[in-house]
Amino acid sequence: MARHFSQEQLRVRPSSKEEAVVASAREHFERTLVRVRGEVVGSVAALEHPNKSDAANYGEVFLRDNVPVMLYLLVQGRFEIVRNFLTVCLDLQSSTYQTRGVFPTSFVEQNGELIADYGQRSIGRISSVDASLWWPVLCWLYVQHSRDEEFGSSQKVQRGVQLLLDLVLHPTFEGTPVLFVPDCSFMIDRPMDVWGAPLEVEVLLFGCLRSCCQLMELAQKNSMSRLLDQRLVLTRQWLHDLRSFLLKHYWVTSKTMQVLRRRPTEQYGDQQHENEFNVQPQVVPPWLQDWLENRGGYLIGNMRTGRPDFRFYSLGNSLGCLFGLLTAPQQRALFRLVLHNRQHLMAQMPMRICHPPMEVEEWAEKTGSDPKNWPWSYHNGGHWPSLLWYLGGAILLHEQKHPSADVLLMGQMKAMLEECYWSQLNQLPRQQWAEYFDGPTGTWVGQQARTYQTWTIVGFLLLHHILRVNPDDVALLDLHASGRQG
Ligand code: GLC
Repeated sequence: MARHFSQEQLRVRPSSKEEAVVASAREHFERTLVRVRGEVVGSVAALEHPNKSDAANYGEVFLRDNVPVMLYLLVQGRFEIVRNFLTVCLDLQSSTYQTRGVFPTSFVEQNGELIADYGQRSIGRISSVDASLWWPVLCWLYVQHSRDEEFGSSQKVQRGVQLLLDLVLHPTFEGTPVLFVPDCSFMIDRPMDVWGAPLEVEVLLFGCLRSCCQLMELAQKNSMSRLLDQRLVLTRQWLHDLRSFLLKHYWVTSKTMQVLRRRPTEQYGDQQHENEFNVQPQVVPPWLQDWLENRGGYLIGNMRTGRPDFRFYSLGNSLGCLFGLLTAPQQRALFRLVLHNRQHLMAQMPMRICHPPMEVEEWAEKTGSDPKNWPWSYHNGGHWPSLLWYLGGAILLHEQKHPSADVLLMGQMKAMLEECYWSQLNQLPRQQWAEYFDGPTGTWVGQQARTYQTWTIVGFLLLHHILRVNPDDVALLDLHASGRQG
């Protein structure tokens, strides 16, 4: 495949219809908002899907799908809806013995009653870990942006934070700072061999703990509590250990790979461990060499004894930048890698969720022949327009925080982002704002894709907002902002 697409191939011609597209996207977005107990609380996952009358759950309010929705509402100053959303989720935080503290994957109001899914209603009956980890992040961003400190330090929120922390801050058999989860427990919610410590969950855990600390600090201002002080010390320590762990075991560059491949294996006992996970050099995939090039770097998908997952996951890597898990030079190494592998990651519909896809045999074995995740489709190498704003936000936030760092690279990144934006603008309205796209170039609408998918629509609007309407608002995505936004 040619490395560089021509303008025509990339479908990036600026469109004179920009304003009209944005206006109609805004209209669609307003239609996604739903009421619960009479108040607007968030968006349904999709406006339309092939079997609207069946029991598919795209008519529900998914916590993860509402992440861009809530951020978009925040930049518009529609704080009340965000607060309603956070409150409903908090009311639905599980209080039953075996799932105490867990937030629901999704909820819906039926006949005046709120029904939540903690996994017991989903295909495969897996609960989403990411929903619980996102809640404190959204809550902190809301408090930071709206200055509603009263909500942040309220007993209700603080209790929710403590219940959630109970799920994380406890001894485990592994004795590591990562959270162990089953396959399908995050955005990738169908089998993809992503059990163990998948990147997205661990980076979200980092963002979650960081946000919990900020929320607890709010409460600390108003009350003297030794228990809270101890909780803060423990959470900060956990956060520190988690970051060191991820940077040590997940971050790879061409340089680190050369060391890794020549490490000793089969090390027992107390001797200095150079290869804690006993990774054999044979498991390092050959495609990694060109992928990393000289100066690229990224966080690998998973680390498990003997079986690291070298696949590239767009969301976990973008969040690694946004949450400040990666250092500024590491973020630029990641940007170089994205630029170098643009034909894969962006292709015609930015951006690919996971690279490379598993081919037929591996797919059959590792996913149990999952019908949606066949090669080049859905989570297995599919393209999700909703993922672009995360990377776009990471690039623009980096530029805002480090305006004079590697101006050439950042110029190229911004040009790429601009072209990706045009690609979406030119294609999405025609493709009815589909959920995902199939094939190596991402040209075909996903075989089972829903149309008028909310996070496709709102992801585009959010990117439009930080590119065109108010670039300063990218600071909203900064979990660690020192100054408050107005
Ligand atoms: C699919 C996606 C999941 C999303 C849901 C609703 O199940 O895999 O990430 O939350 O659809 O859009």
